[in-house]
Parts: sequence; structure tokens; C-alpha cells
Amino acid sequence: MIRFLAKVAVQRLLGAVPFGPAFYQQLQTRRILSPSDVLINIDSKHAEALSHLRLMQDAAGMAASDVKAHLEIGSGWLPVIPLTFRRHGMGRQVLTDVTALLCRDKVPDVARRLVEIDQAAPHPHIGRDGDAGDLLAAEDMVYHAPAHAPFPVPSGGFDLVTCTQVMIYPPPPVIRAMHEEAARCLRPGGLYLATIQLDDLYAIPDPSLSRFNFLRYSSATWKRWFDNRFTPLNRLRPSQHARLLDGLPFERLVWKVDGGGPAELEQLARIRPHGEFAHLPPSDMAATNLTFLLRRV
Ligand SMILES: C[S@@+](CC[C@H](N)C(=O)[O-])C[C@H]1O[C@@H](n2cnc3c(N)ncnc32)[C@H](O)[C@@H]1O
Repeated sequence: MIRFLAKVAVQRLLGAVPFGPAFYQQLQTRRILSPSDVLINIDSKHAEALSHLRLMQDAAGMAASDVKAHLEIGSGWLPVIPLTFRRHGMGRQVLTDVTALLCRDKVPDVARRLVEIDQAAPHPHIGRDGDAGDLLAAEDMVYHAPAHAPFPVPSGGFDLVTCTQVMIYPPPPVIRAMHEEAARCLRPGGLYLATIQLDDLYAIPDPSLSRFNFLRYSSATWKRWFDNRFTPLNRLRPSQHARLLDGLPFERLVWKVDGGGPAELEQLARIRPHGEFAHLPPSDMAATNLTFLLRRV
């Protein structure tokens, strides 16, 4: 609990002073690229990319090589997922983010690491020439950041839209706008794939916290004392995510909710969820991850 409170205090302080946001971003980038963490980060994102490809193939019969155009929402620091997709035959890719986090100078390192760990890819040559000046452009990728929906792309021009580990952050109206943008960008039959971690990110470095600690607080208290621009958790549960898709032209192929079982319910019981969540079933509150795959109708 102390670590959580200290981290929030530092974040709120840095959010309030000039140069604080730039300094925080530098710290975050340094941590992600640190020699002890960078390979772990690349390898885990590579595994996530392969899992996306498996899901698309198994649930929709769509292979990477069937995707002529992919839009990624919230690309982050390292383009591991798009480069993995490319190695597996994907065509043009448009990478977007609300903040320009992409570390272009690290792209050749990512590509070289993928050459080592992704030897079964059908296009294993990608990244071998690690000195390529702009590997992203060479591999038919463009990056737009800072960029908010609507993106500067034509309607119906994409076979795939992905949004990996982004939707834990934005408030509901922004998520709704992302869904509407996915619907606009996808061609009929195109796929919309998202993975969302749903438990409290502050509990990761602070084992004394329940992984559902953030559900203890009312919206007003969360906003007043904890919410901040660096970790703006929306605390949405799976049923609330489902409602944000209401009325949009998607057919649900996969809606996979992890957690919500006895172990997570025990973690939930370590806190008393605020009355604002009382209308939700405990298994919904105690969910830890959501993966959805939707088809544009
Ligand atoms: C945890 S990182 C995930 C990055 C990348 N998708 C991955 O899986 O490696 C979260 C990303 O979400 C982005 N993000 C946060 N709010 C967003 C929004 N409203 N629209 C688009 N991206 C957003 C952040 O800028 C950051 O790049």
C-alpha cells in the first residue's frame, strides 16, 4: 500500500510541474529499454503477436498473409507486434498512438531479436539487414503519433484493426470512439482484435495490494486522489466493455474473459468493492483479462 501511495504521489507531482511529463516518459522509456528488461519485453510481445495470429486463424480462418492492410491503435515503444506480423506475411501496416513513444533507433534491435526467436516465420529474412536506415518504411509501415481517432486513413481500407493492452487506460467515451473508428476503417469481413488487462496495474510492483485494490474507491475518490495522466486506469469490467460495443456493426467471434474464478474471488474479498460496483456480479469484478475478436458486418 505504501508503494502504491508513493507511486501515485510521485506521478501526480510530476504531472503538475513543467517538464514533469517529459521526465516521466524518459524514465518509463529507460525502464522498458534497460538491458535487463528489453529482451523480456520483446519476447513477451512476440508471444502476444503469435497468439493474435493463432486467434485470427482459429476463430476466423484469417492468416497473416490474408491481411493486406492492418491498423494498430496504441503502438507503444517497440513495434514487436507489427514486425512479427510482417515476418508472417502481413501487408501494409499503419501504426498509431496518442503519444509519440516509438523508439525508432531500437527498431533494428527488435528486428534482430525476432530473427533469433522467430525462426519458424515464413519471411525469416526480415530484419537480417539490421542496418536498414528506416526499417519500418522498408517493411511497408507508417507511424502516426500523436494521433487520435479519426485517423488519416480511408474508410473500409483495412482487413484488421488491433489494439493490444491499451483499453485499460482511456475513459469510456474515448474507447467508444476507438470502436467507432475501427468500424469505419474495417472492410466488411475485417477483424477487430483487442486484449485488455483488467486488474489493478499498481498491484504488480506492490504484492501487499489486492489485484482488485482499485475497486475499493468511488469514481469521485479515484479521480480526486489517484487518477493521473501517466496511469489513467478506467477500471472498466468486461460487462461494461461489452456495452461500449452496443449497436456497432460487429459480430462477436471471441469474447474471452480470464479470471473471475475462486483464486481471484479470494483476492476480491481482500477488499470491499465500492457500492458503485455493487450491481456487477463478483466474477465480473474479479476478471483479470479480456480478449475480443469481432468481425465487421
Ligand atoms: C501498455 S502500452 C501497449 C503498447 C503496445 N500496444 C503493446 O502491446 O506493446 C499502452 C499504449 O496505449 C497507448 N494509449 C493510451 N491511451 C490511448 C488512446 N486513447 N488511444 C490510443 N492509444 C492510447 C499509450 O500511448 C501506449 O502506447
